[in-house]
Amino acid sequence: TGSAAPFVPEGADLAALRRAAAGCRGCHLYEDATQTVFGAGPEDARLVCVGEQPGDVEDRRGEPFVGPAGKLLDKALAEADLDREGVYLTNAVKHFKFTLDARGKRRIHKSPVRGEVTACVPWLHAELARVEPDLVVCLGATAAKAVLGNDFKVTERRGRLERAGGHDVIATVHPSSVLRAPDRDEAYRGFLADLRVVREHLG
Ligand code: URA
Repeated sequence: TGSAAPFVPEGADLAALRRAAAGCRGCHLYEDATQTVFGAGPEDARLVCVGEQPGDVEDRRGEPFVGPAGKLLDKALAEADLDREGVYLTNAVKHFKFTLDARGKRRIHKSPVRGEVTACVPWLHAELARVEPDLVVCLGATAAKAVLGNDFKVTERRGRLERAGGHDVIATVHPSSVLRAPDRDEAYRGFLADLRVVREHLG
């Protein structure tokens, strides 16, 4: 599937990484997406949250977590006493992957395959090397597998402190899975409980 590695400038700050990522051709996902959606937030953030990939709204706006899942994440971060402005938000995959519905109008999110995550992960590694957060939070299975390895199971190990690639890491569910859950209140409470562990860990 390819790799972003040849496109990642060495020793670059976040601004230079973002500029370079705009021209990434490391896999084919750039072909149908509007633009690269790079991470956003302060370079000195103590907390990095990693999602799966930009959604429809993010793809059009060029910013991570500004759609429905982002709204829910905002609310949960605030309730867990975590300041969104201080968080660096990014995704395992930097382009929106979708299929068109039968009428060819609506863009329907499609999960990235393993090879697409592997191709894109050099960007995430470069972001983490630059930000050097105290803690990385993986939102959902795609982010968790990208950071903690392909065998990692969020359902079995969510809300627990892990160690990977020189980082403290906690995995939880993806905010869009909370939006889709049959019992949304219960799913939200579980998500919030994990974010309270995050808050605790940051001290
Ligand atoms: N879902 C994600 O995983 N990331 C975003 O940026 C938006 C929605």
